[in-house]
Amino acid sequence: MAERISVCFFFVFVLSLIASLPKQISADESAEGKEFVLTLDHSNFSDTVSKHNFIVVEFYAPWCGHCKKLAPEYEKAASILSSHDPPIVLAKVDANEEKNKEIASEFDVKGFPTIKILRNGGKNIQEYKGPREADGIVDYLKKQNGPASTEIKSADDASAFIGENKVFIVGVFPKFSGEEFENFTALAEKLRSDYDFGHTLNAKHLPRGESSVSGPLVRLIKPFDELFVDFQDFHLEALEKFIEETSVPLVTIFNNDPSNHPYVIKYFNNPHAKAMLFINFTSEDFDSYKSKYHEAAEQYRQDGLSFLVGDVEASQGAFQYFGLKEDQVPLIVIQHNDGKKFLKPKLEAGHIPTWLKAYKAGEVQPYKKSEPIPEVNNEPVKVVVADTLQDIVFNSGKNVLLEFYAPWCGHCKKLAPILEEVAVSYQNDADVVIAKLDATANDIPSDTFDVQGYPTLYFRSASGKITHKNKQLLSKKEKKMSFEKASSCRRG
Ligand SMILES: *[C@@H]1O[C@H](CO)[C@@H](O)[C@H](O)[C@H]1NC(C)=O
Ligand SMILES: *[C@@H]1O[C@H](CO)[C@@H](O)[C@H](O)[C@H]1NC(C)=O
Ligand SMILES: *[C@@H]1O[C@H](CO)[C@@H](O)[C@H](O)[C@H]1NC(C)=O
Repeated sequence: MAERISVCFFFVFVLSLIASLPKQISADESAEGKEFVLTLDHSNFSDTVSKHNFIVVEFYAPWCGHCKKLAPEYEKAASILSSHDPPIVLAKVDANEEKNKEIASEFDVKGFPTIKILRNGGKNIQEYKGPREADGIVDYLKKQNGPASTEIKSADDASAFIGENKVFIVGVFPKFSGEEFENFTALAEKLRSDYDFGHTLNAKHLPRGESSVSGPLVRLIKPFDELFVDFQDFHLEALEKFIEETSVPLVTIFNNDPSNHPYVIKYFNNPHAKAMLFINFTSEDFDSYKSKYHEAAEQYRQDGLSFLVGDVEASQGAFQYFGLKEDQVPLIVIQHNDGKKFLKPKLEAGHIPTWLKAYKAGEVQPYKKSEPIPEVNNEPVKVVVADTLQDIVFNSGKNVLLEFYAPWCGHCKKLAPILEEVAVSYQNDADVVIAKLDATANDIPSDTFDVQGYPTLYFRSASGKITHKNKQLLSKKEKKMSFEKASSCRRG
C-alpha cells in the first residue's frame, strides 16, 4: 500500500509535469521499406547477441500503445545509427509471443517497452534510461557506445562535456593506469547510464576547485550546494556511495523549472522518510525560511530524512494528495514510507528547528487527512470521515457495512441507490449502520482495510470481526440487491 501511495504520489507530482511530449518527428519512410531494426526471437536471439559487442534490444508487446508510439522513432534511430562508426545495432523482441517469454523473463522484463543495452556478447546488461524520440535515442546511444569516461585534455573539452545544469564526475590522475584509475573506470562503466564521467591529467582544465592537485582524486561537479566536492577514497563501494550521496541536493527544489525535475524524481525514489516544506517562493520571507530549512537539513540528513522545498504555485497535486489548503502555507509535512504523515501548517521560519526536534522526539501526533465531520448525518446511508471512523465504525458496538467510494467512480454511482435501499430497510434496526466513506478525501488505515478499487465494501460485526465483502456474497444475503458482475473502478 505504501508503495502504491508513493507511486501514485509520484504520478501526480512528477509524471504529469515531466512527461513532455516527444517531438513529433515525421518518421521518414525508411528507404524502400528496408527495416533497420532487427527482429529477434527465441530461435536466433542468443546467437545474434553473442556476435555483438554492443546491441540494443527492445522488448515489446504488439498491443502496447507506448510501444507503437516508440516504433517509428526507434526505427529512425536504427537507420541513423546504422551508419555510425562502428554501426550500432537496434533489435526488438516480441515479448508477448509465447515462445519468447523465456527470454523476456531472463531479462526481467516487467513492462513494455523495456529496452536493454547488451555489451560483450550479452555478458553485461544495462537498462536503457534515455529518451524515446529518434534524436534523443541516437545521442544517448552514441554516448553509451563510447568509453564510459571521456578524457578531458583542455579547458575547451571541459566546457564542452561539463554541462551547466548537470552533475559531472571527473577523475584527476597523475597517469592513466594503476588501481585507482582502474577502480574509477570500472565504476564509470557501472554507473554510466546515470552519470557523466571524465578523466584528466590536469586539474587546471576543470572549471571549479583547486587546480594544483595532481590526484588521484575524484571531483564531483554539480549545479547546486557546494558546486563541487573532492574525494580521495578509491574503494569501489566508498566511491559509489560518495557519488550517490553528493549528487543529490541537500534540499530538492520542486517548482516549474524542468532542470530540477531529475532531482525531484530521485527524491521520490529514495527510500528515506521525506520532509517537504511548501511555501510561496515569491513571498518576502522565503529566504529566511530557506536558510532555516537548509540548516535543519544539514542537521537531520544523517537521520534518514530527505528534504524538499516546494513552491505553492507548482504544488497543487501535492496539496490535493495530502488534503491541504493553500492558506495553510508555509507548511511542513513529513511522510514515512508506511504512509504515516506529520504536519505543521502556518509554520514560522524560526519554528522549523523546534518542530523538527519535537518530531524527532516522537512528540508530534501523526496527521490524518479527513473531510470535516458533517454537522447533520441523518440520511439512511451515514457519512463516515477519517475523523469519525473510530466512533462510527470501531467503537459503536454495531454491525457496520462500510462502502469506500470515489466521487468520480461510475460503479459507485450505480451502487448508491442499492446501498440506499438496503439502508432504508435497516433504518429501524438500531444495531445496524450502513455507511460510506469518500476514500479520495480521507486517509484510511491501510493495515485494517485493503482498498484497491472502488467500490470496496467492508463489514464490521458488533463483536468486532472485520470482513471484506464481495458483492456476490452481499447479493445473496440481500435479495433486494442486484449487483452487477465484477464492476469496480481502480484506485488512484
Ligand atoms: C530471427 O528469426 C525470425 C523468425 O524466424 C526472423 O523473422 C528474423 O528475421 C530472424 N532474425 C535474424 C536477425 O536472423
Ligand atoms: C579498488 O576497489 C577494491 C574493491 O573495493 C578495493 O579492494 C581496492 O583496495 C581499491 N583500490 C584502491 C587503490 O583503493
Ligand atoms: C505568492 O506571493 C506573491 C507575492 O506576494 C503573490 O502575488 C502570489 O499571489 C502568491 N501566490 C500564491 C499561490 O499564494
